[in-house]
Amino acid sequence: MLGQRKAVIALFPLVTTAARAYITGVSGHNATYDYVIIGGGTAGLTVGARLAADSSLSVAVIEAGGFYEIDNGNASVVPFYAAEGINTTSLQGSNPLVDWQFLTVPQPSLLGQIYHYIRGKCLGGSSARNFLIYQRATVGALQKWADAVDDQSYSWANILPFYQKSAAYTPARADLRLPNATAVNDTGAFLAGAGPLQVSYPNYANPVGTFYPGAFEELGLGALPHGVNTGSLIGYAYSTVTEDPTDETRSSSQTAFLSSAPSLTVYSKTMAQKIVFDGSKTARGVNVKANGVSFTLFANKEVILSAGAFQSPQLLMVSGVGPADVLEQHNIPVVADLPGVGQNLQDNPAVFVGYTSPFVLDAAQLDAAVVPYNTKPHTGQLTSPGSEVIGWDKVSNKAFATSLSKSTVSDLASSFPADWPEVELIANANGKFPSIHR
Ligand SMILES: Cc1cc2nc3c(=O)[nH]c(=O)nc-3n(C[C@H](O)[C@H](O)[C@H](O)COP(=O)(O)OP(=O)(O)OC[C@H]3O[C@@H](n4cnc5c(N)ncnc54)[C@H](O)[C@@H]3O)c2cc1C
Ligand SMILES: *[C@@H]1O[C@H](CO)[C@@H](O)[C@H](O)[C@H]1NC(C)=O
Ligand SMILES: *[C@@H]1O[C@H](CO)[C@@H](O)[C@H](O)[C@H]1NC(C)=O
Ligand SMILES: *[C@@H]1O[C@H](CO)[C@@H](O)[C@H](O)[C@H]1NC(C)=O
Ligand SMILES: *[C@@H]1O[C@H](CO)[C@@H](O)[C@H](O)[C@H]1NC(C)=O
Ligand SMILES: *[C@@H]1O[C@H](CO)[C@@H](O)[C@H](O)[C@H]1NC(C)=O
Repeated sequence: MLGQRKAVIALFPLVTTAARAYITGVSGHNATYDYVIIGGGTAGLTVGARLAADSSLSVAVIEAGGFYEIDNGNASVVPFYAAEGINTTSLQGSNPLVDWQFLTVPQPSLLGQIYHYIRGKCLGGSSARNFLIYQRATVGALQKWADAVDDQSYSWANILPFYQKSAAYTPARADLRLPNATAVNDTGAFLAGAGPLQVSYPNYANPVGTFYPGAFEELGLGALPHGVNTGSLIGYAYSTVTEDPTDETRSSSQTAFLSSAPSLTVYSKTMAQKIVFDGSKTARGVNVKANGVSFTLFANKEVILSAGAFQSPQLLMVSGVGPADVLEQHNIPVVADLPGVGQNLQDNPAVFVGYTSPFVLDAAQLDAAVVPYNTKPHTGQLTSPGSEVIGWDKVSNKAFATSLSKSTVSDLASSFPADWPEVELIANANGKFPSIHR
C-alpha cells in the first residue's frame, strides 16, 4: 500500500525564486514503493528522478537532511560563499543542519591530527557542499572501473550518453569575463536540449586566474584544447562549473533532478537506520526514523543504497553485510560475510598554498559585490567559486619523482591507467580555499 501522498510546492523567496514540486512521504507510517532509495544526494536524486520519470513506477527517497536553501541559505547557493564552513581540521563555522560533522580519529601518519570529513547532509548531498567544479573522468579511469566490475556499461563510450543526458551546457559569457580569460567552447562535449544539471562558466574571471596558464606551461602542461569534459585530463583549462547561468546560483542534484521529478516521493529529515533483508538475503525495505518515530519503507523491486562513500558501507555493516568478525563484535547478525565492506578507504590528500594577491576583496568590496550579483545579468566576484584554471598532471614520470619511493612509483604505474592524473592543480582566486578532500 502506498503512503498517503500530498503534492508540495516549496518556495525559497529569500535565496531563489525557484519552486520545487515533489511528493512528501507521510512520516511515521509504513509504506511500500517499487524502489526505495537511501540518500537524496548527488547519486540518489539523479537515480530517483530518472526512475520516477517512468510513471508506472513508485519511487521514494530517504534523506537525513532538508533543503539547504532553508537550512544554510546563501552560503550553499552563492558560488563565492562555497568555502564557508569548510574547515578540514575542525568543526569551526560548520553548520550541523547541512554537514554530517564527521571527525576522524587522530591520524598517526599525520602527526596525530584529527580531520573533519565534510559531507553534505541535505537534499543535494555533497553536490550542495562542493566547489562546483564540473569535469568528467578519463577514458582509462572508466575502463578500469568497467574491468573491475566486469561490466562494459561503465566504459567511456557507454557512460558518455549518460553524462550528456544529464547536463545542459551554456558557453562562457565572453562579454562579461576578462578578454584575457577565454574559456574553451565545450559545446561538442554536450548535447543541445539535455539536462537538468546546469553546467556553465561563472560570469566573472579573476585577473589572478589569467596568470595560471603561463604557470602551468612552465610546469610542462599544455592547454586542453577541448576543455575538461572529453575524457582526457593531462593539461589545463578553465573549469566548467555546476552553476545555473540564469541567476548564477549553484546547480545541485536537488535544484536539477529533484525539481524535475514531480512524482518522486521524498522523506526528508528522515534517518535510514537499517536495511531489512528477508530469509533469502534479498533487501526488502529500510527501517527509518523521523521525529523520534520509527517506521519501515518496503521495496517491491529494489532498495538502492546511495548514502555516500562513508555511509553506504556503514549502513551495509549495521544491516549485517560486512566483515563477520567486526559485525560479531557489535552483536550484529551476519547476513553476508563480505570482508571488504567498509575497509580500504583510499583518499586524495590536498595541500593548500596561499599567497596574498591585490585582487582579494576586503569586507567593504565584498558587500559591494552583492549588488552586481543580485542584478541581471548577475556578474562580479560572487558568481565565481574561485576555481579558475584547473590542471592535471603525472608526477611519477617526472625527473623530480626521485623523491618518491620505488614502491610508490611502481604502485602508481601498475595500479592506474596511463591517462590517470596523479595530481590535480586547482588555481583558486578567492583567497579562501582551505585544504580539502574530495
Ligand atoms: C568540500 C567538498 C568539495 C568538493 N568539491 C568538488 C568539486 O568541486 N567537484 C566535484 O566534482 N566534486 C567535488 N566534491 C566531491 C563530490 O561532491 C562528491 O563526490 C559527490 O557529491 C558524492 O556523491 P554521492 O551521491 O556519492 O554522495 P552525497 O552527495 O554525499 O550523498 C549522500 C546522501 O546520503 C544522505 N545520507 C547518508 N546517510 C544517510 C542515512 N543513514 N539516512 C538518510 N540519508 C543519509 C546524506 O545526507 C547525503 O545527502 C567535493 C566534496 C566535498 C565534501
Ligand atoms: C510496520 O512495519 C514493521 C516491520 O518493520 C512492523 O513490525 C509493524 O507492525 C508495521 N506497522 C504497521 C502499523 O503496520
Ligand atoms: C580551522 O579551525 C582551526 C581550529 O579552530 C583554526 O585554528 C583554523 O584557523 C581554521 N582554519 C581555517 C582555514 O579557517
Ligand atoms: C560554440 O560552438 C558551437 C558549435 O560547436 C557554436 O554553435 C556556438 O556559437 C559557439 N559558442 C560560442 C560562444 O563560441
Ligand atoms: C589580464 O587582464 C587583466 C585586466 O586587464 C589584467 O589585470 C591582467 O594582468 C591580465 N593578465 C595577464 C596574464 O596579462
Ligand atoms: C543573501 O540573502 C539575503 C536575504 O536573506 C539577500 O538580501 C542577499 O542579497 C543575498 N545575497 C548575497 C549575495 O549575499
